[in-house]
Amino acid sequence: MTENIPDNIKKEIEELVKDLNYHSYRYYVLDSPVISDAEYDKLYRKLKDLEEQYGYVLPDSPTQRVGAAPLDKFEKVRHTEPMLSLDNAFSYDEVREFDKRLKRLLGADKEIEYTVEPKYDGLAMELTYRKGLLYRASTRGDGYEGEDASQNIRTIRSVPLKIEGQTVPEEIDIRGEVYMNLDEFELLNKKREKSGEPLFANPRNAAAGSVRQLDPSITISRKLYLACYGLGAARGIRFGSQAEFIDWLRKGRFPTPAKVVIANGIDKAIDAIREIEESREDFPFETDGAVVKVNDFDLQRKLGTKTREPRWAIAYKFQAHQGTTRILDIQGSVGRTGVITPFAIFEPVGIGGVTVSRSTLHNWDEMERKDIRIGDTVVVERAGDVIPHVVAVVKEKRTGRERHYPVPEKCPACGSRVMREEGEVAVRCVSLHCPAQIREKIIHFTSRSGMDIEGLGEKNVELLYSKGLIKHFEDIYRLKKEDLLALPRFAEKSSQNLIDAIERSRHTTLARFLYAIGILHVGEYASKLLARNFRRLEDLYHVPPERFVSIKQLGEKIASSVSMFFDDAKNLKTLDTMKKLGLEIGNPDFADDKRGGAPLEGRTFVITGTLPKSRKEIEDLIESRGGHVSSAVSTQTDYLVVGEDPGSKLGKAESLSVKTITYDDLLKLIERSANPRLFD
Ligand code: IVH
Repeated sequence: MTENIPDNIKKEIEELVKDLNYHSYRYYVLDSPVISDAEYDKLYRKLKDLEEQYGYVLPDSPTQRVGAAPLDKFEKVRHTEPMLSLDNAFSYDEVREFDKRLKRLLGADKEIEYTVEPKYDGLAMELTYRKGLLYRASTRGDGYEGEDASQNIRTIRSVPLKIEGQTVPEEIDIRGEVYMNLDEFELLNKKREKSGEPLFANPRNAAAGSVRQLDPSITISRKLYLACYGLGAARGIRFGSQAEFIDWLRKGRFPTPAKVVIANGIDKAIDAIREIEESREDFPFETDGAVVKVNDFDLQRKLGTKTREPRWAIAYKFQAHQGTTRILDIQGSVGRTGVITPFAIFEPVGIGGVTVSRSTLHNWDEMERKDIRIGDTVVVERAGDVIPHVVAVVKEKRTGRERHYPVPEKCPACGSRVMREEGEVAVRCVSLHCPAQIREKIIHFTSRSGMDIEGLGEKNVELLYSKGLIKHFEDIYRLKKEDLLALPRFAEKSSQNLIDAIERSRHTTLARFLYAIGILHVGEYASKLLARNFRRLEDLYHVPPERFVSIKQLGEKIASSVSMFFDDAKNLKTLDTMKKLGLEIGNPDFADDKRGGAPLEGRTFVITGTLPKSRKEIEDLIESRGGHVSSAVSTQTDYLVVGEDPGSKLGKAESLSVKTITYDDLLKLIERSANPRLFD
């Protein structure tokens, strides 16, 4: 079918692929783009359109990095040459011993030429290219057999899909490290904290976690990089040395280590190590050492390998910024989405010029795995700009008086029962009224798919929260225009608009409301399902999870979450308070609500003051719509209808938080309740 495509179109597509790949290389490998992001996007869209129109897609087209479907599992891959690990040296003396050993083995006194590179702390990968095209990417695994991660590795923009501008061998295995930069790592953890996912302990775990995703759309959302430093099997090409190989990689547009120093003799190699260690903090990635390799490949072959490590290379491990201190306490901190994360409070200790007095323990599994207890002496490390973390417990220093800090059963911020799902690392507080989560919850509550309160977005919620106007969930329905007028961003009109928007939201549907209150795992779809099966909000109270599971399409996870939510006395109290404050929840899924036959059914009214109609007429109106009129205000009263010169009933109603409405409100209530807002 490619035959039918006009030559000029083919050429245009080929040119676009070439240009886009060049610009990616400038951006992701050289870090020096020559066009703007917008220009890149424009070219990309043009290519995508042409590809779709003519069905002519080159294997190295940038469009081929994205859009692969999730896998069921990773296929196993055998490495042609095993992927080895490295021997470590912890002092310059050990590096000199390494040099002496090699000279002895080679039976020569001549200085050996080395290369020195930073050691990347990431995930080792093998990239196989056949006839210049990326054929497969595999993880190291046990060194002999790894897993096919091609789909995910393709999404890394600095990985060439095609070897460009270079002699192309029949087949070549290129080894490198996939890693995440420190700023990206911190950003990712912040995002995870916000969305309620457990934190990654370090950039290496984050990189590994991102590559080990069956769904490549997750990998692409994480900014990963690659540094190529090693040669595996190759057919149709020979290299004389590591330096020559690195040079070939660079010309072939592969990302290579940030520094590769050629050093003649071990003294020069040690100088290079020192140089890399000194610039360590300037690298955007984490490096924990420098790798010294014999440059000459013939010499490498002569020296050979031991079982797991080559004799011709060694990793010098940098002195970590470490210190030893004692854990005074462990506490849980509640993130804005309710995830509870453990953190340790230390006896303050100076590490690399900074006083460290606390650090996150990341998550409960990590804490248990390292067996960290209150009173323990621990080694604390600060790497690069990364927040300090506990490396290990010094178990020899244990006295027997150390105390376990159990996974909390109650939220440290609000005291509610917490939830931990089977197989999940995260421990969550799912309470409606938890002060640590209130802002996030309200932003969700007011969102368009929720109660749709225009004017109560993130900024204003922050403002109202900081001024103490919203401390609890239900406080939205206590806001008064005067409160708003006193705030910096609110003028007469904007205040009125917000009050009106809040008023409008008082009349809503059960589906919308269930979504808005933000029950864990309950999205719009589950909310609708629940509303189809339960007539009123109260019908959901104290329902065992089995009853929810019996609803088709509601999974166990949702069922137990909903059941737990409506079993919490404090949550129910909040819901009841909201109703007292005038929230009206209709359910158009049920026939009588649809008909709008008895809009005031089940509601009790009390009347006070002088109204536009006679007392009798108003009572008739209420009763004809299914309501009930009583003479005295009590906790059973839903509404007090207030006219001019109200009596003592008004004071009583206010003291009981009974909602007060005017005659006009009453008419609106009848009208609105008869036509509850539909959600779709
Ligand atoms: S060379 C045969 N060079 O460190 C030796 N490895 O601790 C192959 N690593 O498995 C490794 N940066 O994943 C080499 N510049 C570098 C490296 C590097 C990071 C990793 C690699 C290796 C591990 C050994």
